[in-house]
Amino acid sequence: VGFSYHPRHPHLPTSATPFPHCSPGTSPGRLPPFPPPKTLTTPRTAAMEQANPRAGSARNRKVVLRDYISRAPREDDMALVDGGAVPLRVPEGAAGPAVLVKNLYLSCDPYMRGRMRDFHGSYIPPFKPGSVIEGLGVARVVDSTHPGFVAGDIVSGMTGWEEYSLIDKPEQLNKIQQSDIPLSYHLGLLGMPGFTAYVGFYEICSPKKGEFVFVSAASGAVGQIVGQLAKLHGCYVVGSAGTNEKVELLKDKFGFDAAFNYKEEPDLTAALKRYFPEGIDIYFENVGGPMLDAVLLNMRMHGRIAVCGMVSQHGMTDPAGIHNLFCLVPKRISMKGFIQSDYINLFPQFLDYMTKHYKDGKIAYLEDMSIGLENAPAAFVGLFSGLSNTILLFLVCNLMTLTLPAGRPRQHFPLQDLEVNRTKSMSPSAEIHRFKRVVPVQLLQVVPSALAALTGKGMT
Ligand SMILES: NC(=O)c1ccc[n+]([C@@H]2O[C@H](COP(=O)([O-])OP(=O)(O)OC[C@H]3O[C@@H](n4cnc5c(N)ncnc54)[C@H](OP(=O)(O)O)[C@@H]3O)[C@@H](O)[C@H]2O)c1
Repeated sequence: VGFSYHPRHPHLPTSATPFPHCSPGTSPGRLPPFPPPKTLTTPRTAAMEQANPRAGSARNRKVVLRDYISRAPREDDMALVDGGAVPLRVPEGAAGPAVLVKNLYLSCDPYMRGRMRDFHGSYIPPFKPGSVIEGLGVARVVDSTHPGFVAGDIVSGMTGWEEYSLIDKPEQLNKIQQSDIPLSYHLGLLGMPGFTAYVGFYEICSPKKGEFVFVSAASGAVGQIVGQLAKLHGCYVVGSAGTNEKVELLKDKFGFDAAFNYKEEPDLTAALKRYFPEGIDIYFENVGGPMLDAVLLNMRMHGRIAVCGMVSQHGMTDPAGIHNLFCLVPKRISMKGFIQSDYINLFPQFLDYMTKHYKDGKIAYLEDMSIGLENAPAAFVGLFSGLSNTILLFLVCNLMTLTLPAGRPRQHFPLQDLEVNRTKSMSPSAEIHRFKRVVPVQLLQVVPSALAALTGKGMT
């Protein structure tokens, strides 16, 4: 992280040492930790007892990885299992403070494919076969022996693909201050993908107003935000995606100057030449493979390539080679990989920036949501076939953000196993989006119980 970049960040502090604790690579994926526990076992305080006085137990379903794989993931690589009854309290005598959470939203991300391999040399360890799959989520605290959390808090962070998770490193959780922004956005726009776009674009790409920017997998969770940041910065932006519907989204919803369906282009080099007759200054690399080769031939002098990921190579045991790397030399191109968590010190600034721009209507955001843990394996596999439209999440249960088209009344509907959480003043576009994309699927599954509950409460 170079402080010389700050002139490009009008929203970042400008003091000489704005982030004195910044030390890339020392705290991947962690916000500054809470103080470490002083004792090995954590006595429950009176306040904790009061917070969770009537703890019972609940069945816990979970999605486990069956075994390591060395190919593209399939649904049957994962299994939904009954994890038995889980006491709704942090167990007595736990080795240090812990937090029991009810998972609300879980996210499917491409990096999780790498954790399905028997490979221990990555920046994050592999999953354990037979154990619950770990992933980022938004959850509600059910019980806590950590002084930083109480029952009812809404948190985001690393959790499990299950209904309840016992989190033994609560210091990695972020407490979410609830606002009128949907909770699920803390896994996308305001979460890891949004942060990846933010640091990748500002810290790695060194953008200048008027530059030509190309984004691949542009309708994905990261790409859609990169394109919008580039537009806000005054750049010319083109994105590629794998369906015509996504291409339309890029232009109509996310404001890209142009977009194309890479699957319909027989010659990617020629396609890029068509969209960038003067060449590309910045390439935000999400896919790798033939696209990277074509981009290299179209880069301008002193261009920058931010290597965020290479989703086309994830399922390959023998990744495709890159043929045009020599272009780096005559064109003096910089190509740099990055991991978002190395820049975690920028997270508070990122949150402020995104929240403000989203509320001002300057950043749009779309997510794709599946309902229920049982659909998690299909949702994950869909990431690699391009079936998902944008960021893919799944709703576990018990807290559903349900919004109606503008002008319709909103009410709290306490259902038997489904608590509907109203957002107060979501922007009209977000409302319409969520109504169109989320509610119809939910209706299929919850209408009978919802109607019964509403009728019982005399609501119409
Ligand atoms: N460096 C970091 O810190 C960091 C953090 C987060 C994510 N990432 C990486 O960033 C990239 C994008 O992540 P994301 O969360 O935005 O992904 P995403 O929302 O899950 O989008 C994935 C999209 O990639 C496209 N895709 C899949 N297979 C492809 C292939 N063979 N060739 C071309 N496109 C393909 C598909 O869209 P189409 O229909 O358009 O093909 C798919 O919808 C990934 O490589 C991920 O690993 C890196």
